[in-house]
Amino acid sequence: MELKIELTRQPKEKPADENKLSFGHIFTDHMFVMDWDKEHGWHDAKIVPFAPILMSPAATCLHYGQEVFEGMKAYRTESGEIRLFRPQENFRRMNESHDRICIPKFDEAFLLEALKKLIEIDADWVPHTYGTSLYIRPFTIGTEESLGAHSSTKYKFLIIMSPSGAYYEGGLAPVKIYVETKYVRATPGGTGFAKTGGNYAASLKAQDVAAEEGYSQVLWLDGVHRKYVEEVGAMNVFFVLGDEIVTPELDGSILSGITRKSAVEILRSWGYKVSERALDIQELVDAYHAGTLKEAFGTGTAAVISPIGELKYNDLVMEINHNEIGEISQRLYDELTGIQWGKVEDRFNWIVKV
Ligand code: PLP
Ligand code: COI
Repeated sequence: MELKIELTRQPKEKPADENKLSFGHIFTDHMFVMDWDKEHGWHDAKIVPFAPILMSPAATCLHYGQEVFEGMKAYRTESGEIRLFRPQENFRRMNESHDRICIPKFDEAFLLEALKKLIEIDADWVPHTYGTSLYIRPFTIGTEESLGAHSSTKYKFLIIMSPSGAYYEGGLAPVKIYVETKYVRATPGGTGFAKTGGNYAASLKAQDVAAEEGYSQVLWLDGVHRKYVEEVGAMNVFFVLGDEIVTPELDGSILSGITRKSAVEILRSWGYKVSERALDIQELVDAYHAGTLKEAFGTGTAAVISPIGELKYNDLVMEINHNEIGEISQRLYDELTGIQWGKVEDRFNWIVKV
């Protein structure tokens, strides 16, 4: 497919102070757009100036939530090189999400090339400061003008990009997480494994309640037994229990995180015992009382490696590792970000240069 390019005539001001970058508020000069209809399949791929998009107020995505998104980052190394971290994994997962909610799949190799071109055009927007990056948000929406509740006959695929800093305000400071016991995010057979907006809409109520109590996000329990640990709002979770590092298994209702997968590979390469298995919340409580709950951390593209310093379950407040970043979390953070920013050898071959 041909990729058309229309450059902006009104480039915007770049962020004045990269140290003040927050997450996802500023957008670059350009975006990628591509359309789908029954007659042409995916077509009309173009890079255009970042601008509002026009669509009918009856567009299906606005009523029935047919939407899928991804999150990845471009990093600038000290020598000025721009690189992506495992982007093929994001496009593969995006197609799996598409499939789950009946959006036609796209050509992953073409999209990777189009993304590289988009980043090349907006290269000056990739921040220079260690710890900041260009957050990349591909997403697809159903755009058919119709109020019938069926899969759309038209779609739009876009990529927008945002120079960003830490996802959590405190950066690498441990976050406080609230174990959710009332609301449910996902159930077996549902859409939990897919990166679709509805999962996030379903999670907002619990998140708001937790925020009122001073917690950053909630830790979801499984929707059937209401006892197996699943994931946090924007990250997968790991717990260091004695000499075992446990992360919930991929059971179809949690997201198969690319940072999670990378963390498992790195930790195993260091000789740690990492188990992907069902984890009963009571096991965490017992480990806390026995003193074997050593560390907890979340993993995610936006969240990177986020130490968890406090976990509240019903009336029990569990302080973990004295609310400080643990040895394993710190080592993992240094290794992962080191690979991403080019300070550590890319021994797994994860980096794709732009
Ligand atoms: N779980 C949820 C619900 C997420 O939104 C994210 C973020 O993308 C993750 C986990 C972590 O996934 P990844 O490491 O691929 O960013
Ligand atoms: C990401 O980490 O890329 C995500 O998509 C999480 C999002 C809720 C910010």
